[in-house]
Amino acid sequence: MEDNKRASWSGQLAFVLAAAASAIGLGNLWRFPYLAAQYGGGIFIAVYIVLVLTLGFTLMVTEIAVGRMTRQAPLTAYSRLHRGWGFVGVLGTLVPVLIVPYYCVIGGWVLKYFLVYARMAVTGASPMGEGAAASAAFFNAFISSNFAPFGYGILFVLACAAVIAMGVKNGIEKSNLVMMPLLFVLAIAISAYVVTLPGSADGIKYYLVPSLDAMREQVVDKAGATHSVFSFARLVKTILGAMGQMFYSLSLAMGIMITYGSYFRREDSIERSVRRIELFDTAIALLAGLMIIPVVYMFAVKTGTPVKEAMNAGPGLMFITLPKVFATLGSGGAWIGTAFFGLVIFAALTSAISLYEACVASVCDLLHINRKASTFFMGAIVMFLSTFSALGYGAWGDIRLFRGILSKDGLQFLDFFDFVTNYVFMPLVAIATCVAIGWIVGPRTVVDEVERCGQRFAAKGMYVFMVKYAAPVLMSVLLVEEVIRSLKLWNWKI
Ligand code: PHE
Repeated sequence: MEDNKRASWSGQLAFVLAAAASAIGLGNLWRFPYLAAQYGGGIFIAVYIVLVLTLGFTLMVTEIAVGRMTRQAPLTAYSRLHRGWGFVGVLGTLVPVLIVPYYCVIGGWVLKYFLVYARMAVTGASPMGEGAAASAAFFNAFISSNFAPFGYGILFVLACAAVIAMGVKNGIEKSNLVMMPLLFVLAIAISAYVVTLPGSADGIKYYLVPSLDAMREQVVDKAGATHSVFSFARLVKTILGAMGQMFYSLSLAMGIMITYGSYFRREDSIERSVRRIELFDTAIALLAGLMIIPVVYMFAVKTGTPVKEAMNAGPGLMFITLPKVFATLGSGGAWIGTAFFGLVIFAALTSAISLYEACVASVCDLLHINRKASTFFMGAIVMFLSTFSALGYGAWGDIRLFRGILSKDGLQFLDFFDFVTNYVFMPLVAIATCVAIGWIVGPRTVVDEVERCGQRFAAKGMYVFMVKYAAPVLMSVLLVEEVIRSLKLWNWKI
C-alpha cells in the first residue's frame, strides 16, 4: 500500500494548520453564533464542546487514520479498506463534488461584499442607503443579477484552482501560512473591538451565561394561567443542533480529513493533532460569537426588535443584518465591515480549497493522472455546476426542484445541493464509516494506525466504544432529525 511518490505535509504543524483551515469556515461564522443565541448561550456552548471532544474526536481520528493507512483519497480509500465498502467512497466523493460549486458561489458573494465595504471605507459611499436600510434589496438585487454572481464565483474557483495546482506543500501549505495567521489576527482584533464597545456587556452575558430559560416552554393551564415548564424537546433539539453543527464545522464526512490524512507522515501523532484542530476550530467559533452576538444584541435593543428575531443565521445574518449593524458603528463601521469580510474570505477560501482538493486527489488516485490535469478537469465540472447555483436566484429563479415532495414550494438549486449533501449524504457516510471500522474491519486497525511508531493513544477506550456503539446511533438519530427538520415535516423547526 505504501506509495513513495505521494505528496506529504512538511510536518505535524502543517497538517494541523491545513485541517484547521478546512474546519474553520462559514459554519463557524454564520451558524455557531446563531445557535448559541437560540439555545441558551453557555448551555449550548457546553454541550457543543462535550460533543467535539467525544463524537467529533472519534469521527475525525477515524477519517485521518483511514487516509493515512490507505494513502488514498476517499474515492479509492474505502475499497482498499474492504472490498465490499467501495460504495461509501463514491458517496463520500460526491459530497465535495456537490458542495464545492455552491460554496464557491457563496465565496463569490463574500468577495463582492469585501470589495463593496473596502470602497465604502475609502470613498464614504453608501450603496445600501442611510443606515444600510436597503441592505436586503441590495443583496437580493446582487444575487438575482444575471452575470455578477457567476463572475465572482468563477474568480473564487480560479483562486482555489491556482493554489491546488501548485501542490500540497507549495500550494495548500504555503497559502495557509499566510491566510491562517491573518484570519486569527482579524478575529481577535474584531472581537476585542466589539467587547470594548460601550454597552456590549449585556450582549456578552446573553451569549456566555447559561440560560435555563432557553430550556423552558410556556404552557397555559386549564385555568388560563401561563407557566414556564422544563421542556425535554428543547433539550433534545439543543443537543441535536449542537451535533449537526459540530459535524459540519469539523469538516467531517466530506472526504477532506481522509485526503489530508493521506498526506500525513507516519511518525506524527494523530491524536495530538486532532486535539489541536478541535481547539482552533472551537476557538474561532467562540470568537465569532463574541464578534457578532453583542453587536446584534445592541442593535436589537436600539431598534426595539426581540433579540432572537434579530439574530438569524446564514446569508440573512451575514449579508443583510450585519450591514445594518455595521452602519450603527459610525464612521468606523465601513472599516469593521471590510475587516470582517476579509476574515470571511480567508475562512471560506481555505475551506473551499480543502473540498476542491478532496475531489482533485480522488480523481488523481483513480485515474493516475497528474495534479494539474486533475485540477483542470475538476475546475470544469465545478464551473459547470456553479452555474446552477449562481443563476438559481436570478435567471433560473423560477425553476424549483421537487415541488410538493421535498418542500411545499420546492427547492432552489443551491438549497437543494445543500440539503442532499449536508442532511442526507454526510450523515450516511459517517454512519457507514463507523460501521465499517467498528464492525467490519475492526477498531483495532485504526488503533494500530494511531499507535504507529510508538505514539500513545490516550483516549483509546473511549474511541472504541464510540466508534462501535455511540457514534452510529447518534449519527442515525441526527440523520432522521435533519431530514424531518429541513423538510419541515410536522412543522419541526430548529
Ligand atoms: N467546516 C466548514 C465550516 O465550518 C465546512 C466546510 C468545509 C464547508 C469545507 C465546505 C468546505 O464552514
